[in-house]
Amino acid sequence: MENRSMRDLESRARELNGAIVETRRELHARPELEHDLPFTESVVVRELERLGLDEVKSAQGRGHGVYATLKGKKPGRTLALRADMDALPVQEETGLPFASTNGAMHACGHDAHTAMLLGAARLLAETRDELPGTVRFIFQPSEEVDSGATSMIESGALENPHVDEIIGLHTGNLWSSLKPGQIGWRAGPMMASTNAFKIGIEGKGGHGAIPNLSVDPIVIAAETIVRLQTLVSREISPFDPAVLTIGSIAGGKAGNVIAGSCEMVGMTRAFDPKLAEFLRERLRATVENTASSMRGRGTVDFIGYLPPVVNDPACAHKMRDILVDAFGKDWVQELALPSTGAEDFAFYLEKTPGAFFFHCSTFDDPERNYPHHNARFDVNESVLWTGAAAMAAYAKGNR
Ligand code: NI
Repeated sequence: MENRSMRDLESRARELNGAIVETRRELHARPELEHDLPFTESVVVRELERLGLDEVKSAQGRGHGVYATLKGKKPGRTLALRADMDALPVQEETGLPFASTNGAMHACGHDAHTAMLLGAARLLAETRDELPGTVRFIFQPSEEVDSGATSMIESGALENPHVDEIIGLHTGNLWSSLKPGQIGWRAGPMMASTNAFKIGIEGKGGHGAIPNLSVDPIVIAAETIVRLQTLVSREISPFDPAVLTIGSIAGGKAGNVIAGSCEMVGMTRAFDPKLAEFLRERLRATVENTASSMRGRGTVDFIGYLPPVVNDPACAHKMRDILVDAFGKDWVQELALPSTGAEDFAFYLEKTPGAFFFHCSTFDDPERNYPHHNARFDVNESVLWTGAAAMAAYAKGNR
């Protein structure tokens, strides 16, 4: 009985792929940024209101988040399923017939996440008689920038009823071992923590020909960058993964002028929160001490932090077992390594156990696979139904 209903779920999900693609294209054509998602919100609410759910709450988060609730007819716990909805300030170059023309772009697949979660909601609403417990659908803003997840948590998305477990996924091509449509899973660390920082170097401006009367912040910045590279290579165990990148440097305007100041922006990644804290402390000390040893002044501002995404082993294994039992072992693949990408899904996991999965949406033709955040990024629409089916199956099989 159970397996038959799971097989029905699989074939129904396959049938719904066209509807999922249609929603994805509608969102793709009109991407919106950060917390400012009125059109996206209206599409999500329109689709959810067709499903006869118990509750659809719009205007959440900082104004355009949505969450909804479906109570199953069988007893059980409360599971949250989460999608993010925001796009990126990238000028689209895919040439697709539904490409965005407004200067923003769904270049990370969040249009597909939203469409797949709407698909999962439909699959579950159609079979609520067999559904154990309650499912909370969370459509959050601003995953790419800040406060998306926390704004939804503050709006009560994890309460009334209290959410016992949360599941989310990211689609795309970052995980090259996966085949299109497969779900990648992992127990423990899944994505890294990130600390974004801004470094200010104060020197003393002057004439480029008389450097002894100035304090050159460009030279201090160069020395600082080199020393910062030794934090990961010389101060952290080779068995503990960590990254430190300076992605931007700005200072000075002319070849014969010594600038007064210089600014750098960068980020660190790590999986162990203690290591992230160690990097923060050593970064600050290195910047301050390098600058002062060269007669300047260095400061560090931390401008954004995301904790690591650490999967609850029980939830990760449950997803694997449910998908293998229901649909077969080709559906899943254990990922050998976590990703050094970061995700604000981590904030939900600080509140409640859960797991984050990868959904592979690559094309068989490698020429069509562009990196995330690239102006030609695209997802393989023919497999979106497997993401919807995986989330719905987890909810149906959740005990
Ligand atoms: Ni993303």
